[in-house]
Amino acid sequence: MTVTVRQLQQWKQQGRPIAALTASDWAIARVLDGAGVDLILVGDSLAMVALGHATTLPLTLDDIIHHAKAVVRGTQRALVAVDLPFLTYQESPTQALRSAGRVLQETGAHAVKLEGGSPSVVAAIAKLTECGIPAIAHLGLTPQAVHRLGYRRQGTDPAGVARLQTEAAAVAAAGAIAVVLEHMPAPVAQTLTQALTIPTLGIGAGPHCDGQILVTHDLLGWSPVVPPFVKTYAAIGDIMRQAVQAYCQDVQSRHFPEDKP
Ligand code: KIV
Repeated sequence: MTVTVRQLQQWKQQGRPIAALTASDWAIARVLDGAGVDLILVGDSLAMVALGHATTLPLTLDDIIHHAKAVVRGTQRALVAVDLPFLTYQESPTQALRSAGRVLQETGAHAVKLEGGSPSVVAAIAKLTECGIPAIAHLGLTPQAVHRLGYRRQGTDPAGVARLQTEAAAVAAAGAIAVVLEHMPAPVAQTLTQALTIPTLGIGAGPHCDGQILVTHDLLGWSPVVPPFVKTYAAIGDIMRQAVQAYCQDVQSRHFPEDKP
């Protein structure tokens, strides 16, 4: 049975933490879904970890739809959410509706995610909600604003905390079904989590959120650069390199394929 928006809400009320991760293709989605991940995000971070771009900004709506179709094919249980790429929703609520509508119609995903808490993003969330499209908000460090904010921790002074509180209240009032809180002090994320009735998903935001989300390539030790808050659970990059080196050696020394009758 697929995880639903209602289920996420119930888990917040029950204090049952939500496990979320990113996926960029069918193979990764199958592993995550089979392992019990509750929410799979087709994050625009795939621009960096899967496509080799320096930031998330070059990713287009067509690009993410292509990846999201594969992720949905590999998922049976988890709720699948898809990032709306840079400049595919900030212009107007109508632009956000067209982009989100394409994502849901063409991929079969269940929800979209939008970065920021400015009035234009809040208006976009309200429009999507009005039209029945579940929208996840994303506050704190927002990688699509890298050229303005950098990758710095947010909410580190009273003005920054007040801004986060205002934005969190606004996205929730607009109908967001959940909010990602990225790279902020744990007590700030805890205060936001307690104030909101929608689930919070933390990434570098401490242990008090309603759930956690990480970029899967980071968790697996498969990214060239990893943010300071990531826990690396495996060294997949090293394992793959060793396997491929062993294959090259076998081929070059004529040990593979074996000469079987
Ligand atoms: O794009 C992404 O992977 C994300 C996560 C970092 C939450 O937005």
